[in-house]
Amino acid sequence: MPVTVTINGKAFQCEPGANVIKLAIDNGVFIPHYCWHPGLIPEGNCRMCLVKTSTSRKLEPACMMQAADKMVIETETKDVQDARKSVLEFLLANHPLDCPVCDKSGECLLQDYTYNWRGNLSRFIGIAEKTLKPTKDLSEKIRIWGNRCIVCTRCVRFYRDVVGDEQLTVVNRGDNSYIDVSPGHPIDNEMSLNVVDICPVGALINKEFLYKARVWFAKEQKTICNLCSKGCSVTATVVDNEIKRVVPKYNPDVNGHWMCDEGRTVHYSLTADKRIRKGLATISSVANAIQMISAKSGDQSLGFVISSGNTCEEIESLKELTRIFKGVKVGFITNAGKAINYKAFTIEAEKSSNRKFLEDQFGTDAVSKGLSDIEAELKSGDLKFLMIFNAIPFKRLSLGFLSLCDSLDFLAVISVTETGLEAEANFILPARSYLEKSGSFVNSKEMRQIFNEVVKPPDFSADEKEFIKNLLAVLNRQQIVPV
Ligand code: SF4
Ligand code: SF4
Ligand code: FES
Repeated sequence: MPVTVTINGKAFQCEPGANVIKLAIDNGVFIPHYCWHPGLIPEGNCRMCLVKTSTSRKLEPACMMQAADKMVIETETKDVQDARKSVLEFLLANHPLDCPVCDKSGECLLQDYTYNWRGNLSRFIGIAEKTLKPTKDLSEKIRIWGNRCIVCTRCVRFYRDVVGDEQLTVVNRGDNSYIDVSPGHPIDNEMSLNVVDICPVGALINKEFLYKARVWFAKEQKTICNLCSKGCSVTATVVDNEIKRVVPKYNPDVNGHWMCDEGRTVHYSLTADKRIRKGLATISSVANAIQMISAKSGDQSLGFVISSGNTCEEIESLKELTRIFKGVKVGFITNAGKAINYKAFTIEAEKSSNRKFLEDQFGTDAVSKGLSDIEAELKSGDLKFLMIFNAIPFKRLSLGFLSLCDSLDFLAVISVTETGLEAEANFILPARSYLEKSGSFVNSKEMRQIFNEVVKPPDFSADEKEFIKNLLAVLNRQQIVPV
């Protein structure tokens, strides 16, 4: 039965035992906090969330309190505010004045709370020497600035509770305590960078993002990740039309608060050396080739390859395209890998974003055959025309497949990054990454997720959906719209 908790004179209903800080924050009453994080088991070590409560004579940490009926909480009394000031005073006693050079500047809870609650007072000025702690690499990806650490243990608990291996630990006690790698447990997990996001100060830094951008100059753009079929919600940090960083966005139905390290590289294909930047031939040459080859050798000499990285909208248009030919051959590019199961997070085995939708449109059996039917037709020499739509970043086709393509009369490649077939192609369309267009993907849980353009597409690229629409128009003898 729900219980009633009164916070700052306002009554709220909740389940008995609900976490008080979460109850308050979810209902618009902000209680400052460092060690509490909604995705971790609370530990109550920073004391920033102290509140006055009807159940105790002392101030209590709201993150460790469980809601009980008729409980009364006050979050803004003088003694609560004094306690916050004291906590900040102690934290700042050993904190370096690094804000001008710290990557967390602009999104640091120590900065924000100091500005809101601390005032200018410090009784430590000129009295205490600062305790020095190690600044060093914790792994290839993460560097720690020990002096900035407030020992909230969020990072330690993340590896313990979400990854399931205690790869970080607290060394020493009191003001000599610092965070280090647990002996014999190097940080080798694929979720490692989440600790950088949840570190409330600038102690843990993603070396890849170090000194790349000031967050107050950046635009935060919501999108999803396309590097596996989980489809995590993410936020891209964009400066001058360039993605500087990708971080997880809370989505209780998909990824919770987290994402994998690989997902943070989702924008790499946009600027990669392997990106296709130059087109070859026109849409009319493709339409002519289709018409001439089908007139000479029949529709069954035509082949189309669709990838599980194409958007739902592109797949639907491609289905329409393949339907206008009788006996046309259709193959599929997918990207199966290995699933990784951590204690509280799974990285999916399919390393592309839209396999579920492709299977829904063409059948699971057909999609799992991949390119085998097309390969058989190439070997027999019956296939004369092949158009390949590849939207999986950095996906290259096997050398065996490439050599079979020699027998074709016409090869068209539509891809963001090189497939290996470009030298043989008669037509090339430099495609757009999903980050440069709008559409939707269906994830492994069969949720259709819509995404919008994050960065403006480059001039050399073209939209696949427009291309397919125009090709259909030409083939139906309608007016050509150049792409
Ligand atoms: S490194 Fe950051 S997350 Fe880890 S204990 Fe220190 S302040 Fe907390
Ligand atoms: S788990 Fe999959 S969807 Fe999520 S961030 Fe990693 S690669 Fe992207
Ligand atoms: S947030 Fe409650 S003690 Fe740290």
